[in-house]
Amino acid sequence: MIPESFIQELLARVDIVDVIERYVPLRKAGANYQACCPFHTEKTPSFTVSPSKQFYHCFGCGAHGSAIGFIMQYCGLGFVEAVEELAGQIGLPVPREVSARSQEKSRQQPLTERMARAARFYREQLKASPKAIDYLKGRGLTGEIAAKYGLGYAPDDWQGLARVFDDYADAAMVECGLVIENEQGRRYDRFRDRIMFPIQDGRGNVIGFGGRVLGQGEPKYLNSPETPLFRKGEELYGLPQARAAIRAENRVIVVEGYMDVVALAQFGVANAVATLGTATTPVHVRKLLRLADSVVFCFDGDAAGRKAAWRALEASLEALGDDKLVGFLFLPAEHDPDSFVRTEGAEAFRRLAAQPTTLAEFLMRELKSASDLSTAEGRARLVHEAKPYLTRLAAPLLRLQLVRAVAEAAALSPSEVEAQLGLKPMPRGRPAPPKARQRLAPAALERTLLLTVLRRPERAARLPLELVSRDSAEGEALCAIAAAIEQAALPAGNLGLLLEHFRGSPHEPIIALLVAESESTASDEGELEAVFADAVEQLRRRDLSRQIGLLNAKARAGTLSREERQRLAELLALKSA
Ligand code: UTP
Ligand code: MN
Repeated sequence: MIPESFIQELLARVDIVDVIERYVPLRKAGANYQACCPFHTEKTPSFTVSPSKQFYHCFGCGAHGSAIGFIMQYCGLGFVEAVEELAGQIGLPVPREVSARSQEKSRQQPLTERMARAARFYREQLKASPKAIDYLKGRGLTGEIAAKYGLGYAPDDWQGLARVFDDYADAAMVECGLVIENEQGRRYDRFRDRIMFPIQDGRGNVIGFGGRVLGQGEPKYLNSPETPLFRKGEELYGLPQARAAIRAENRVIVVEGYMDVVALAQFGVANAVATLGTATTPVHVRKLLRLADSVVFCFDGDAAGRKAAWRALEASLEALGDDKLVGFLFLPAEHDPDSFVRTEGAEAFRRLAAQPTTLAEFLMRELKSASDLSTAEGRARLVHEAKPYLTRLAAPLLRLQLVRAVAEAAALSPSEVEAQLGLKPMPRGRPAPPKARQRLAPAALERTLLLTVLRRPERAARLPLELVSRDSAEGEALCAIAAAIEQAALPAGNLGLLLEHFRGSPHEPIIALLVAESESTASDEGELEAVFADAVEQLRRRDLSRQIGLLNAKARAGTLSREERQRLAELLALKSA
């Protein structure tokens, strides 16, 4: 856990303009800065950065957030990693409750340096090895692509790395997986006489290597072991090189092999990354879906490839949202992406990648083929088999579609399937329970108030909170913002900080939604202030009507006291004023 006070300090110390400028060139435009949005493709700049609010927003795609949010979105990092990256940029140490993980992190710096030095050594050795160069040329790679991926060669030498590491005997060499120690205590290089593929994390640090034999030999690929730097189930090969293309196409292609990534890049398909000899994990999928709206898994056309695809489907269920797309590209059985792009060309590959089998299609196809649907038993089995997948699927609308598909295949009605799966049946015809109905009813006033408050958070201090209805997400968020400002947990004005304050809270979704909306409606401050004042006035009137309604009901029931009658008359006078 990172303390919130640190997040505040960090965001107070950095300037979002400097932070974004490191990645995207900005141009001054009035009080703000502008650029073409790095999160979608556009020709005229609609991405703006506000130094006063410490906040960025794109009028085109709605992307927005604080400096931390930018790093998360741009680098595809998680919150903690993004905070570390940002703090690292200004040399601020991140305080943390001491956990195994944070101790690990503090040891990582020298390990990363070692890995970088080893990568440099292997690159230089490649230049000096005609047979390694010939091997890569033989596989159709140019020097340019080899350089882009930092490919290298580990010489055929038991202690090659000793040439660049004076402290070859240091335990850190074993810890970062470059050196192996045998039972007699003798140390030698893990990678010898192999083509070296450096594996980088999202920030471009080398965290591991894959090494391929030149030609035949076992094992074909040797990989770095899991180390404090390298978690195979979380990392993706080729991510830093592919990032720009992933963003431009809003699609990422996931393949199985190092060579697949590099060969696709060689042929101009630059948005591919690879899992690292492991099954796709939910961590992978979350990372990928942060980078693009569409993820296409492209595995080999053989049985192993199909199995890998199914594992990827399972890993995707919980990470998927209705605004995202996960698809599968099945190549002809004799091909992997490398051989396919080489023989059929990049255009053919792109065509396939643009029309993948969707997750829903793949799931239904596999489920149907596993049961004999001509029998009652088979149809029952289909529903039974579908259950764990449908309940784990995090995209509610897609789940609804799948419920229908399963129902049709099983000759049941969708509500019968829902009931069998223990999924909440959709209310049909029956009125929603009162509480839910109120929540669904547009909280129009609270929405307007929240929109204006988000343009200038200090307005929240002027809200008559007792009149704000908490029966809507908007109303609850308004009260929470007012409370945070009152407790001085939030400095006024800084919208970036406000967003970080509510990150992970139940208010985050509505705030994010309305920030995008309020930033996109251009109106001047005077106009906004008038809208705010008018909404506050309407809150008062709404309350007046409510009180009058209560008293009127009592009057009709004949239970109105003398004081209440007088109060009613006052209220009515106020209302018509
Ligand atoms: P493949 O066997 O499909 O190799 O392994 P490839 O990608 O087609 O490689 P080339 O074209 O023969 O050079 C796919 C991935 O599985 C892991 C590696 O990550 C590899 O990229 N693998 C494979 C290993 O880790 N070790 C092995 O011995 C083989
Ligand atoms: Mn291959």
